[in-house]
Amino acid sequence: MVSASEAFAAVSALTRRETGMIYDEGKEYLVEARLQPLATKAGCSFADYVTKILADPIERAKAMDALTINETSWFRDNAPYQAFTDVMLPDLLQARAATRRLRIWSAASSSGQEAYSIAMLLDQHLPPGWTSEIVASDYSPTMLDRVRAGRYSQVEMNRGLPATLLVKYFSRVGSEWEVAPHLRDMVTLRSQNLTAPFTGLGTFDLILLRNVLIYFEKDVRHDILRRMLPMLNPGGYFLIGSSETTLDSPPALAAAWQREQIGRVQVHRVAPALADRPTAPIAASLTGA
Ligand SMILES: C[S@@+](CC[C@H](N)C(=O)[O-])C[C@H]1O[C@@H](n2cnc3c(N)ncnc32)[C@H](O)[C@@H]1O
Repeated sequence: MVSASEAFAAVSALTRRETGMIYDEGKEYLVEARLQPLATKAGCSFADYVTKILADPIERAKAMDALTINETSWFRDNAPYQAFTDVMLPDLLQARAATRRLRIWSAASSSGQEAYSIAMLLDQHLPPGWTSEIVASDYSPTMLDRVRAGRYSQVEMNRGLPATLLVKYFSRVGSEWEVAPHLRDMVTLRSQNLTAPFTGLGTFDLILLRNVLIYFEKDVRHDILRRMLPMLNPGGYFLIGSSETTLDSPPALAAAWQREQIGRVQVHRVAPALADRPTAPIAASLTGA
């Protein structure tokens, strides 16, 4: 039997180790609210449940999943999507004219609104003869199941989806809305912990890593930012959340990410000095930067 504060400290350390996410003191209520239903299901108290997840990897995975924060919406913040349609996409269409293929990574996709928002824009603006792939990845298996299902409640649909796009791309199934099969076919799912190596993903023309770095400690953030560099194709774009920055990185890493302004949206690209090099040594050259 552990005390409530010992239980919180243990969960906090475990979450930091498994997912990189920080649950600081003061978040006890949140941790308990997220884990209590699992404890009840397992037939034990909150404190005993914490002891259980320390020993049982299957229960631990469920607890970590339950502790992810999955807040999202359609066309979140709007301006990045406008900048994609107006500037990034036309630029990429020129840059990739030889292959006529675009690859996009929604790297903390939550329930899929980010990936499907991009899919709607590609469906409308990608010229005939082009192909695309959107990879949606997340740590949470529950969220990946949701992307796969492509089903959303009315409350979720009300968050940022214009009525014209609802009519065009969704059909009603009972009390929910289901995304059109051709949009779902544009999205490939991947389980990817951002703190683990990025293997077998290929490289991308646009990476969205939005509203997730805020949950990590500085060293975890910097490690992810470093490992994202070789994941971008030359001339590709990297989007982080509006409250996130690369500027607090160590100088070599901050310089490796070149910041560009598109209207009021800041986008990142690999600085030309690094982009000219073969990709593999990029992250290695910044190790410990
Ligand atoms: C707040 S949501 C952001 C969703 C979307 N990118 C947006 O901006 O609307 C953060 C997502 O990051 C995921 N996440 C948290 N830690 C992660 C990790 N270590 N690896 C991969 N995904 C993680 C969570 O499961 C959650 O779905």
